[in-house]
Amino acid sequence: MPFRPRYTGIIERYRDRLPVHDDARIISLGEGNTPLIRLNNVPRVLGKEVDIYVKFEGLNPTGSFKDRGMTMAVTRAVEEGSRAIICASTGNTSASAAAYAARAGITAFVLIPDGKIAQGKLAQAMMHGSTVIQIKGNFDAGMRLVKQVAETSPVTVVNSVNPYRLQGQKTAAFEIVEELGRAPDYHCLPVGNAGNITAHWIGYCEYSSASGDHVTESCGFCKGRCMYAGGAIVGNRPRMVGYQASGSAPFMRGAMVDDPDTVATAIRIGHPQSWEYAWKVKEESGGWFDECSDEEILAAQKLLAEREGVFCEPASATSLAGALRDVKAGKIPEGSSIVCTLTGHGLKDPDIAIQQSLRAPLTVEADLDSVKRAILDNMA
Ligand code: F0G
Repeated sequence: MPFRPRYTGIIERYRDRLPVHDDARIISLGEGNTPLIRLNNVPRVLGKEVDIYVKFEGLNPTGSFKDRGMTMAVTRAVEEGSRAIICASTGNTSASAAAYAARAGITAFVLIPDGKIAQGKLAQAMMHGSTVIQIKGNFDAGMRLVKQVAETSPVTVVNSVNPYRLQGQKTAAFEIVEELGRAPDYHCLPVGNAGNITAHWIGYCEYSSASGDHVTESCGFCKGRCMYAGGAIVGNRPRMVGYQASGSAPFMRGAMVDDPDTVATAIRIGHPQSWEYAWKVKEESGGWFDECSDEEILAAQKLLAEREGVFCEPASATSLAGALRDVKAGKIPEGSSIVCTLTGHGLKDPDIAIQQSLRAPLTVEADLDSVKRAILDNMA
């Protein structure tokens, strides 16, 4: 039987809207095409009439949204003859870079903050054979170093300052519009470097443009390649809402934060790389930034896991935590459709999950009576 893959990743799917050459060797692991899950139980808990969907990006090949951007960045790096890629990371970018480099047969160097990344992500970077460099500093210091190294060494930076990353990530917005038949009223995301919120806005703008004209002010990357001409799906764009962890919230402070801290290590970033873009996204979309405490973030993560069966990592739950608060407060009105991006899978960070579980596993004797008793005692 010939191998006929069902789905082959975002580049094949959206080729006409991405800056790839026809003869490029595509480096893909089948990323994208992630589920948009309508929440059934959480809105009931809220007592509000809203449609909340979660875009579960944790179901990408390496467990985060980074894969959408990495397939583009690594495909282009290989095309340009690069033999090595490099990134600074709070964990997910390094996992993704390591995997796509392995797939491409090139080398990956990843700089991570010593002791401040989730175990699952570290395991991924190590397992895929990247060179892991732990620095005694935070992500922002790592980012500075990566940029400096790349000036003099033959390595391609695959952080979101690489424009192909955002191009790949914009495809999440395409998928959402195709599935809902329109853009949602609100799109909520966790914000770290602010690359992803920018990428989504690029995607929505390209898709909503009636004439196929390119929304140059907000994009600037695609060089007129936004191909959604003909206006089959025209019109609305969401308000983009970016939520940060309170201890790492430069967009709320209106200035860079030098010593960011949060349980959501993925967004422990004080000097966002897409600072200017993200302010523009907020302005153009009529959205806003807000912050969530670590407690709110973990509560939203737990709520989603317990009430909907969806397990995302803490940083990802920031989008839902913020959205729930804004719905409750009426800032997001009843009747709205809301998409929250869940950026990464909960299995990335098992330590935090186990720490916050209220029910420890029951340990009983290995006999029928003991097991039966445990079941009866815990019947709802
Ligand atoms: N959520 C998760 C799970 C992330 O890993 C990141 C960023 C974000 C949200 C924020 O996205 O930076 O585009 O605003 N993680 C990067 C990394 C920094 O190195 O993995 P952003």
